[in-house]
Amino acid sequence: MHENFNDFVLNEYTKSSSEITSFFYNEKKYWLKKARPTKSSISHKIYYKLFNLELITPVQEKSAIQALEFECTKLEEFKKLNIPVPNVVFKNNNFFVLEDSGKNINSFIRKKDAAQEKIDFYIIKSIDAISLIHNKKQYHGGAQARNLTFKDDKIYSIDLEDSFDDSIDLKTLQFRDFLLFLLSLTKIRAKVEINYELFINRYIENTKNYDFKKRLQKLANKISILIALSKINFIKKFLGKDVKKFFILFDSLYNLKIDKNINFEDKNV
Ligand SMILES: Nc1ncnc2c1ncn2[C@@H]1O[C@H](COP(=O)(O)OP(=O)(O)O)[C@@H](O)[C@H]1O
Ligand SMILES: [Mg+2]
Repeated sequence: MHENFNDFVLNEYTKSSSEITSFFYNEKKYWLKKARPTKSSISHKIYYKLFNLELITPVQEKSAIQALEFECTKLEEFKKLNIPVPNVVFKNNNFFVLEDSGKNINSFIRKKDAAQEKIDFYIIKSIDAISLIHNKKQYHGGAQARNLTFKDDKIYSIDLEDSFDDSIDLKTLQFRDFLLFLLSLTKIRAKVEINYELFINRYIENTKNYDFKKRLQKLANKISILIALSKINFIKKFLGKDVKKFFILFDSLYNLKIDKNINFEDKNV
């Protein structure tokens, strides 16, 4: 006989020393995530003030309980909006438990021997999933490939804990989502071609966020100045070592073909 689910998860919680762990109960897989505060470092906030880059918009400071409440509430909201998310099956002040929603997208696309078609398949699926969130007037908050999962032919959103100051508008948070996703693609290790322009166009067609192209190019210009100024060290800080692939993305951004007939809003990037 199995002990009841609540006792079982409470025991998993005490047993586990990591912030996130998976376990099986009645042959079904679950994930236990412990409450922990969210905040951005002081240097992070200074960089943001200096360069005004959406990519590094600091996250709102929340206590562990606030962060847990925020993430679980957002999971419920997404579910109501028919945005695929795992069910929350247990929650208290210290942790919550989610049903398993498959392997994360990073694990599919970062394999050294991943095939071009596979990579394209998961990227397109992910772009469509991010578009769906944005079309429902929401943002993900951490839209990197590792925070999207794939199960039963569907992309699920996880890790929704980050929130932002009320002064930051929804379009900016959506732009940040899209950027975070594009940047996570620079970590792909297989020798394949990443057709950023195609993916960007697909996102824009899905969401009608036409001005994002202009915003991406403005960002590319800004980053190029930053790179020159900082001799790459600053960029390395939040992107990791793989700067070369990062450049391929920004090269694509420079060369994006913009439809001159569309009147872009002239927003600051
Ligand atoms: N419900 C879930 N289904 C499948 N995988 C999950 C689930 N929850 C978490 N994971 C896995 O655990 C990793 C970390 O969880 P996440 O919520 O992103 O925490 P963190 O805030 O530490 O990044 C994810 O990248 C994913 O691989
Ligand atoms: Mg995560």
